[in-house]
Amino acid sequence: MSTIREFAMGLPKAELHLHLEGTLEPELKFELARRNGIELPERTVEEVVATYDFTDLTSFLAVYYPAMRVLVTADDFRDLAYAYLTKAASQGVQHVEMFFDPQAHTSRGVPFHTVISGYRRGILDARREFGISAELILCMLRDFSAEYAMATLMEALPYRDWIIGIGLDSDERGNPPEKFAEVFARARTEGFLLTMHCDIDQVGSIDNIRTVLTQIEVDRIDHGTNIVEDPALVDLAIERGLGFTTCPISNSFVTAQMKSAEIVDLLRRGAKITVNSDDPAYFGGYVGDNYAALAEQADLTPADLAQIAKNSFEVSWISERRRADLIASVDAYLTTWS
Ligand code: HPA
Ligand code: ZN
Repeated sequence: MSTIREFAMGLPKAELHLHLEGTLEPELKFELARRNGIELPERTVEEVVATYDFTDLTSFLAVYYPAMRVLVTADDFRDLAYAYLTKAASQGVQHVEMFFDPQAHTSRGVPFHTVISGYRRGILDARREFGISAELILCMLRDFSAEYAMATLMEALPYRDWIIGIGLDSDERGNPPEKFAEVFARARTEGFLLTMHCDIDQVGSIDNIRTVLTQIEVDRIDHGTNIVEDPALVDLAIERGLGFTTCPISNSFVTAQMKSAEIVDLLRRGAKITVNSDDPAYFGGYVGDNYAALAEQADLTPADLAQIAKNSFEVSWISERRRADLIASVDAYLTTWS
């Protein structure tokens, strides 16, 4: 008999919460270090994995950023994106809108052009080979200044055709969304779509979610499940058809649980819940694994997972025509399964 895991893996879906830098598997890290003549403190994959001892977002970020120093040339960025897209295509992903953190590279001397041209080449190569489509979302690091974010936005303008949206990530503690209100207002006038991380169980999570919805007026929200603390905000999000990019396995690393109760509660109420992998190299699960883990934890049916996959296309930033085709492909998949 086929399992919910097999169903999850073959289900056509979009991935909407994925940090390219979070797809750096230890094997590729060693390969890039060798290529660039960088000495790593760890000698084996097991030693690298042993450093993945996260208890919250801050302890995760303390491992995540230093690992990026092996990314130096455009080829390195290309290979990272290509490896991820290869893996995603093998788990039913038809389309990805993926984050990249240019400031994590420009702040250590790697030019913006090197980063984005490498990622762009990885996207084009994967599309040619697997038919998977991908867009880039430029994330500002919220623990850097608003001035640096604005300068990064200006640096990105010549590449606007390669960037679909602007996001906000990194450490939320002491870095609320309003710190970047001006940057995001400018990004909007420049024609970018907007999304922001509202991480799980942060101090002031619900206030930040309120700001993001009512002041910044994002087009999507990343994580954001603490919204259940304010029913009026849940109603507002549902009325707007606002997409939530949840990441169950990631949640179980940075908090004590997957937050499946909140995710499923919002799904049942009609919120546009999607399921994603966040930083799969660190959390040990790609997007299909996340669908399967949530289904196993919360006893979801194939029809529930199909609803989540349809949501992913509904709140993705693709053309209406492609959206209709991809939603139809989910229905067709569900029919052949049952
Ligand atoms: N939250 C904040 N910053 C991040 C994340 C996240 O989920 N993943 C990578 N950087
Ligand atoms: Zn994230």
